[in-house]
Amino acid sequence: MTETYLTQPIDEQSARALAEGGLRLSLVDTSDDAAFDEWLRADHRGFLGGRPSDETLRETRDYQRDLRTTGVYDDSIPAAASPVGTANSWIAPLTVPGGAAVGSWAISNVTVAPTHRRRGIARALLGAELRTAHALGVPIAILTVSESVIYGRWGFGPATFASEWRVDTKRVRWAGPATTGTLSFTEPEAYRETGRAVLHAVMASRAGEIEQTPYHADRVIGPLKGNSLADKYRLVRYDSPTGEPEGFVSYVVKDADDFVRHTVDVTYLAAATDEALTALWRYLLELDLVAEVHIDTRGVDEPLHHLVSDVRGARVVGVQDHLWVRILDVPAALGARRYEQDGELTIEVTDDMGFAGGRYRMRVSGGEATVESTTASPDVTLPVASLGSVYLGHDAARHLALAGKLTGDADALDRVFRTAVPPRLSTWF
Ligand SMILES: CC(C)(COP(=O)(O)OP(=O)(O)OC[C@H]1O[C@@H](n2cnc3c(N)ncnc32)[C@H](O)[C@@H]1OP(=O)(O)O)[C@@H](O)C(=O)NCCC(=O)NCCS
Repeated sequence: MTETYLTQPIDEQSARALAEGGLRLSLVDTSDDAAFDEWLRADHRGFLGGRPSDETLRETRDYQRDLRTTGVYDDSIPAAASPVGTANSWIAPLTVPGGAAVGSWAISNVTVAPTHRRRGIARALLGAELRTAHALGVPIAILTVSESVIYGRWGFGPATFASEWRVDTKRVRWAGPATTGTLSFTEPEAYRETGRAVLHAVMASRAGEIEQTPYHADRVIGPLKGNSLADKYRLVRYDSPTGEPEGFVSYVVKDADDFVRHTVDVTYLAAATDEALTALWRYLLELDLVAEVHIDTRGVDEPLHHLVSDVRGARVVGVQDHLWVRILDVPAALGARRYEQDGELTIEVTDDMGFAGGRYRMRVSGGEATVESTTASPDVTLPVASLGSVYLGHDAARHLALAGKLTGDADALDRVFRTAVPPRLSTWF
């Protein structure tokens, strides 16, 4: 599958639609450094970043060569080598309820030059990604988003939510259990392989997490080239009492006018076990000369309120949509996850793009679902985006019904799909 997704030809429907507007859709040869650099520069510009240095380009090329990389080019611009649209994709193992890892079409770096916005370039790019994934039999597409108003139109629904916290560490004391194991400072170069293995364990342990590519893993273990705060990064590892690496925290201490009131900005807290989680939280909350710990992209069930002496000293300052899921193959996707309640349900899925629409009978027995097409009348009718929203166990059905994004027996759908532990994605891609 890895080779196929890289070499699968460009989607003809999107290529034709763009050609009508004088634009060319093309796969980028990532072994051609000059062409790839132009694509990377356009991507940085699209996300309002600075001009990447040669060092940054070299590093990113090495990390991202194996991704399917698409560009849109306007050949009417004299001597233009820079694409006016970018996207890349790869097949990422997505952890689903029950613990299986489902190869999912991860889409990233979707940008369109402001000179060419709102001419349908993103529509062509997304259509191309979804049709290619579908043609290759990939059952699910996933992405994280800059703005939550964009991707619903292509059948994606918000499937995990993430919380952001500010903790007043002068106000709270540790109220959790005695902590065990060893904490020690380390450096990214020394810890890289271990850190990737810890991340693998973290990702495998929760529905909604994806196996991180080396690029995404290394970015949270330590700063990559061009990070203006690189010299401020700190990395602390947690090892269990028997010496097993089970977690780490990477963070930056921000300058403060008052030397006893610094803020710690956590880049990433990885905990493969409860012991690692409590030890690392305790470490953060008890730092001297620090008054605030800021962390985001945590699950909606982060247990922090129960670990501090003063619940209001640990504030959730935001909760927002994070992973968006687009189901492409209903029987394959529903059959891949496990369920916490047995039962039967007939669902009718509508899909404007034609990939997933149909009426399906689910029979869940022993936590496993068999899914087949049916003509029986549906218990629930929902657009494919709503199915994406409930797929990973998030109990959204009642809210979707309230919003008119699902009709029928929402409670029955919730009972089958929701999980006791909410899904979480703790990284961006
Ligand atoms: C988001 C972005 C890729 C859209 O590209 P685009 O080529 O202008 O989009 P299209 O012309 O194909 O628009 C397709 C549809 O999406 C809508 N749309 C696109 N971007 C939107 C936005 N930011 N907010 C609301 N609607 C948007 C368009 O209005 C259009 O709607 P319609 O089908 O109802 O007419 C582009 O604005 C961009 O590069 N933004 C900055 C980088 C970014 O945020 N990328 C997304 C990363 S997750």
